[in-house]
Amino acid sequence: MAASVTLTVELGARAYSIVVARGVATLGAEVTRALGPAHGRRAALVADPTAARLHGAGVRAALIGAGFDLVELPVEGGEPRKQLATVEHVCDQLTRAGLDRHSPLFVLGGGVVGDLGGFAAACFLRGVDYVHLPTTLLAQVDSSIGGKTGVNLAAGKNLVGAFWQPRLVYADVATLATLPPRELAAGLAEVVKYGVIADETILTRLETRWPAPGNPIDENLLQELVADSAAIKAGVVTRDEREGGERALLNFGHTVGHAIEAATGYTALLHGEAVALGMLAACRVSVRYGGDPVLEGRLRKLLARLSLPTDIDNYLTDVVLDHLATDKKRAGTHIRFVVAERAGKAHTELIELSELRALFTKGALS
Ligand SMILES: NC(=O)c1ccc[n+]([C@@H]2O[C@H](COP(=O)([O-])OP(=O)(O)OC[C@H]3O[C@@H](n4cnc5c(N)ncnc54)[C@H](O)[C@@H]3O)[C@@H](O)[C@H]2O)c1
Ligand SMILES: [Zn+2]
Repeated sequence: MAASVTLTVELGARAYSIVVARGVATLGAEVTRALGPAHGRRAALVADPTAARLHGAGVRAALIGAGFDLVELPVEGGEPRKQLATVEHVCDQLTRAGLDRHSPLFVLGGGVVGDLGGFAAACFLRGVDYVHLPTTLLAQVDSSIGGKTGVNLAAGKNLVGAFWQPRLVYADVATLATLPPRELAAGLAEVVKYGVIADETILTRLETRWPAPGNPIDENLLQELVADSAAIKAGVVTRDEREGGERALLNFGHTVGHAIEAATGYTALLHGEAVALGMLAACRVSVRYGGDPVLEGRLRKLLARLSLPTDIDNYLTDVVLDHLATDKKRAGTHIRFVVAERAGKAHTELIELSELRALFTKGALS
């Protein structure tokens, strides 16, 4: 694969590029092109300290080389810090550092820092430009694309936020080499999701080319998978920017996944692990709606190969089923549920909660 792949998110005046690169050789030039001549020299690097320690040097050098006068603001990754108080702190620091409305924000890290930094960019001085530099697989294939920014409240995740599109997403797949294996696997669950909803070759490539645990990952394969996944998400969010229709397909595996996360207190499982389980549950529902019956077995084998959990039967407890009833995507007594027709094709069905409960009641499906 080429040294970098460029995709475009076609949102008219707010269109932007996603560059999937290996290394940061083109970062300075891409930033200069994306931000144009009107931006100021003063800029902030809002950075996850782990990502900054491991990958900050090249990023700083590229941005300074492109003429920016950088102030660095560390923001811890991890869900507990994704809160309004952190946004206030970041905005305070931006003011103290003398940034103005022409100052861009560069946001380096995973989805937590990305959501938070993006939201700070949406709010600071009623909105400034920002560039995502995602360093987790989940952030490269999902959270950095689509312009959803925000933070959690005590009452729930992502309850405060804004749609605010970045000016550029620059995903350096070399940063993924330092991810803890569990975080990498959790990101792969989202890659599998794209395979199921839109492109069967993603599944085949993972089945045939993903290495066994402990073996090195082919950076070419990783770049291909990130680029293809990002292209699917970019396509969906372009056609459905504010989540009225097609964007719902991105929720494949997420209805049950979110219920499992809520029921297990958001600590036992990573989001992608819960999504892996949710995708198996969704396959079962899909069969009742004409879906290919071999998909569940195929996914089970693939998820196990990727070191993701597959013991869905242990999770379909009453507590999880009760959480389904509080799903955000619920419409009265029905849920808009994403069903897979076959590998590479999905659609939504409005399904009664009571029917889902019956389908998921332990033993009923085995
Ligand atoms: N905005 C959206 O559309 C969207 C979509 C999906 C998920 N999200 C959000 O994304 C968040 C999860 O993101 P995440 O999984 O990236 O979590 P995260 O940002 O907490 O990162 C996970 C961990 O990896 C570390 N890390 C980051 N880059 C690293 C690297 N290159 N090497 C080693 N360690 C590294 C971080 O310090 C952290 O400990 C959630 O808050 C979720 O709500 C948002
Ligand atoms: Zn997800």
